[in-house]
Amino acid sequence: MEHSETVFDRQAIAGRVAALGRQIRTDYEGKQLLLIGVLNGAFIFLADLARAIDMELEIDFIRVASYGDASASSGSVVLRKEPELDLSGKHVLVVEDIVDSGLTVAWLRDYFAAKHQAASVKICALIDKQERRTVPVQADYAGFQAASGFLVGYGLDCAQKYRNLPDIRAVKA
Ligand code: IMP
Ligand code: MG
Repeated sequence: MEHSETVFDRQAIAGRVAALGRQIRTDYEGKQLLLIGVLNGAFIFLADLARAIDMELEIDFIRVASYGDASASSGSVVLRKEPELDLSGKHVLVVEDIVDSGLTVAWLRDYFAAKHQAASVKICALIDKQERRTVPVQADYAGFQAASGFLVGYGLDCAQKYRNLPDIRAVKA
């Protein structure tokens, strides 16, 4: 992609994903782990993370949308697809691409908190943009901290493009 620079290359991503996988395996040992990927952005991260967690687990997906295709989220989150697996007694780990304003993660926490069957709910985000936060939420696991620039690649899009780039790049304004 032109007008962009690599921020996290594929080796750095692989290293962080492997470390997260080991940490998650240790933390969830002996528990029923259910990964729930947030479509579309998390699909590549989830695919790699799931293979880095060396234990029995289940995988499902949720799709949410914040209105618009713009680089900034607009303030309202809409549920597009519910998870389909039974959550009863499961330890849910929601796998998200980026925590930006925090709106989506706050919404996801409320959504799963209302599903009382789950034994626990935590969030694993590939990228945490702390300085952009407008809602006070934290990811329980984060791959990388990033500044405010707009990122594409490794599942992250700009108007639906560039998800297939193997490295994560910052789009220059
Ligand atoms: P939030 O609700 O503002 O935290 O942002 C949530 C969603 O916006 C994330 O799940 C991403 O899908 C998208 N998003 C935020 N920042 C970026 C970015 O830099 N690149 C691509 N998508 C982003
Ligand atoms: Mg997303």
